[in-house]
Amino acid sequence: MIILGIETSCDETAVALVKDGFKILGMSVASSLKIHIQYGGIVPEVASRKQAEYMIPVLEDAFIKASITKDVVDALAVTIGPGLMGSLLVGVDTAKVLSLVWNKPLIPVNHLVGHIYSGFLDESSETKPDFPFIALIASGGHTDLVLVKQHGDIELIGSTRDDAVGEAFDKVARLLGLPYPGGPEIETIAKNGDPTSIEFPRPMIDSGDFAFSFSGLKTSVLTYTKNNDNYVDNRNNIAASFQQAAFDVLVKKSLDAVSKYDAKSLLVTGGVAANQKLKSMFANNTPSNVSLHIPPLSLATDNATYIATAAYFLKDTLALDPTNNREDIIKLEPDPSLEVTN
Ligand code: KG4
Ligand code: ZN
Repeated sequence: MIILGIETSCDETAVALVKDGFKILGMSVASSLKIHIQYGGIVPEVASRKQAEYMIPVLEDAFIKASITKDVVDALAVTIGPGLMGSLLVGVDTAKVLSLVWNKPLIPVNHLVGHIYSGFLDESSETKPDFPFIALIASGGHTDLVLVKQHGDIELIGSTRDDAVGEAFDKVARLLGLPYPGGPEIETIAKNGDPTSIEFPRPMIDSGDFAFSFSGLKTSVLTYTKNNDNYVDNRNNIAASFQQAAFDVLVKKSLDAVSKYDAKSLLVTGGVAANQKLKSMFANNTPSNVSLHIPPLSLATDNATYIATAAYFLKDTLALDPTNNREDIIKLEPDPSLEVTN
């Protein structure tokens, strides 16, 4: 079964053709990130205009890469939320039109559930997470711990009360005079710093639940820079110590969740999962009887492959058929503030 996935939740315009939930036939991603860099963050109005501009070329590119035509596509999948309204609308409207014109089912996918399915994009069954598993979604917009009991049976067990962890990286980078997005910048300079040099707080590390908070940690870095006139000379140590504090909390809470729910696997995804330091902390601390899954960068950050994969595994409950559900397809609207749900 071949599913055409469309993802436009933020600044990436992405299309992918995925066979049987794991085999990527072709994928294409365009991003307006470079334009946002000059503003120091994503500008929603610019993001949605670029979505509209990139949609058709990206769609065509995915078909060229896959060397197939629309006739062999069985269904369409699209991100329905969360994300930026204007950006989401471009993908959802494109998918609605294609579904009705091509007369193929449409499967709306929660973007966060999609991220979880980046762990299933592999041909080998040994490398797929085993149920039940814990997923940590760590991105610029989300810090969620999710218990995945089965396909279509998931539970949000904790999330951030304020800033997402990637957002904290972006804000601390800005404090240190580094460009957006801050995560890769902090990671780079942290390599030349001592992570034990400054004792930043580990927010909520002993709260006994799976909630996170990163805004206080960011404020501690701000206070440190205000109290230390020569902080610029100490940037590497600040970056390394901040990164260590944030990751200590992510790793501890994820592993506590694994143990509490007797999880067989742990999946770490989202932009922050690109961080080598975080990867090695998970690799060194995950118990040997738990399999650790960290998708490659190209699949962990926003793209449409995992939207198609999630749709493949959830199609029985989510698919809308153009013949029987025509009105539902026409009425389908993005939900910018969706949380992780079944
Ligand atoms: O998943 P993503 O590409 O987009 C969404 O937010 O949905 O995540 C982007 C976030 C940004 O906040 C960025 O600073 C962070 O992920 N990030 C990193 C690294 N690469 C990207 N954070 C820490 N270390 C990295 N190497
Ligand atoms: Zn995402």
